[in-house]
Amino acid sequence: MFSDNYGRRFSYLRLSVTEMCNFRCTYCLPNGYSGPKASAFLRRDELQRVMRVFAASGTQKIRLTGGEPSLRADLAALIEDASTTPGIQRVALTTNGYKLRQSIDDWQAAGLSQLNLSIDSLDPQQFHAITGHDRLADILRGVDRALGLQLPVKINAVYMRDVNDQLGAFLHWLKVNPVTLRFIEVMETGAQPGFFEQHHVPLSNVKQQLLLEGWQPVVRRQDAGPAQEFWHPDYAGRIGLIMPYSRDFCTTCNRLRVSAQGKLHLCLFGEQGYDLRPWLQNDAQIEELVQVIQDALTHKTATHGLHERNTGITRDLSMLGG
Ligand code: GTP
Ligand code: 5AD
Ligand code: SF4
Repeated sequence: MFSDNYGRRFSYLRLSVTEMCNFRCTYCLPNGYSGPKASAFLRRDELQRVMRVFAASGTQKIRLTGGEPSLRADLAALIEDASTTPGIQRVALTTNGYKLRQSIDDWQAAGLSQLNLSIDSLDPQQFHAITGHDRLADILRGVDRALGLQLPVKINAVYMRDVNDQLGAFLHWLKVNPVTLRFIEVMETGAQPGFFEQHHVPLSNVKQQLLLEGWQPVVRRQDAGPAQEFWHPDYAGRIGLIMPYSRDFCTTCNRLRVSAQGKLHLCLFGEQGYDLRPWLQNDAQIEELVQVIQDALTHKTATHGLHERNTGITRDLSMLGG
């Protein structure tokens, strides 16, 4: 299995399939997408080779991310490619939900096993103001459909001071909806100076509030993701907190990222990436590619170091899909 100098093992690949996005989330792409055209991104055969090489080296879970992955016309085929790659046990998708209602049945038929959705507000007007789209009701119908198909659903909400930092509506909704709602601390990006200072709130405040209200920490599984999770006997749903600025965040890192242009990123923060594309052109190159990735992994650092500075810009959130 791919591993690094700190004994971390990487069984989880986050594979970005496009940088394009049709939303204009205030914390991510406030001016909308203006990057390269679709032809710049990995073709299906290149993506298949990425999946195969990671699966052959111990990857068990692939998450397809973007930009917005559903802007690729071949998304269902890519889900099927991932789910039929020998060794892959789970295929996940992170989406803004724009095509959820119309596509979820096809995605599940293609082998999707879990779904993460960005929903930053349950108030239609606030949702519109954050994303630039009046789409909340349609997306919530898609959530119902996904739950009806028995898919595990996680909702991501970036928690922003003076925007959506009231828990009431979210908690009310969680009473009856069996999803995991994860609040994410705003991360600093290059997209707009000042946003981070204005809206970042440490989620440790929310954690204290939840504990006071009877929410209890869920015991972390070995392969758990970045969220600390909580449950409550009166609620169908769970709450997760993603706090990338907390001290121990990186010790359990289990993921590697490949960008839509074929670069390996060892961390969400702070490096240019290692170009894999030259080794994705035919099947004969796969063994060499394993070596290229292993060599790159010797450069993975213990942490992103953000907790020391309490900041640190990633230019790549929209590009790498988080
Ligand atoms: P699971 O696979 O269900 O655990 O999901 P996930 O949390 O890994 O994936 P998702 O795409 O839903 O990401 C949720 C948020 O967590 C995004 O804002 C990501 O940027 C953030 N995130 C995920 N992994 C990392 C990480 O390794 N480092 C940092 N800093 N943030 C991460
Ligand atoms: N800070 C925190 N989370 C972010 N995301 C995108 N940009 C940021 C940011 N600046 C989240 C989205 C999505 C996930 C893939 O990344 O909300 O749920
Ligand atoms: Fe891993 Fe980097 Fe994320 Fe830390 S910030 S958990 S090192 S990918």
